[in-house]
Amino acid sequence: MKKIEAYIRHERFEAIRAELFAIGLPSLTIIESLGSGRGEAIVEHYRGATETLHMRPKLKIEVVLADEDVEAAIEAILTHAGTGTIGDGKIFVYHVERALRIRTGEEGEEVLESHETEAPA
Ligand SMILES: Nc1ncnc2c1ncn2[C@@H]1O[C@H](COP(=O)(O)OP(=O)(O)OP(=O)(O)O)[C@@H](O)[C@H]1O
Ligand SMILES: [Mg+2]
Repeated sequence: MKKIEAYIRHERFEAIRAELFAIGLPSLTIIESLGSGRGEAIVEHYRGATETLHMRPKLKIEVVLADEDVEAAIEAILTHAGTGTIGDGKIFVYHVERALRIRTGEEGEEVLESHETEAPA
């Protein structure tokens, strides 16, 4: 199992979410984040004061998925997150040790399976 963490532009989220859903990856988490990439501070001038903004808002998407789904998920994010301009974001991939569904006590990749037989809540 792996975990993808992707920092993206907020306005790209819906296209990414829809594509992940379409390829069988409906389960994910999003987190509002503040961060910096390589040197892109914005200098603002307001009423004579100068402020340098080092931290920019991004949306962080977290998806835990089977190894075999990683490349498709990366492709989906690359396709929909990219504008070709500075600040498009980044993707990180981590190893995941364990996954458990609390309701049933199941453990392992079956916990990650998509919910195709269940109606959406
Ligand atoms: N090495 C890192 N560690 C942790 N978070 C990071 C790292 N690099 C980037 N991030 C996160 O990703 C967000 C997006 O980064 P950003 O797209 O600006 O990367 P970049 O390398 O500067 O690329 P670009 O040249 O397109 O701006 C950052 O705001 C930060 O939250
Ligand atoms: Mg940057």
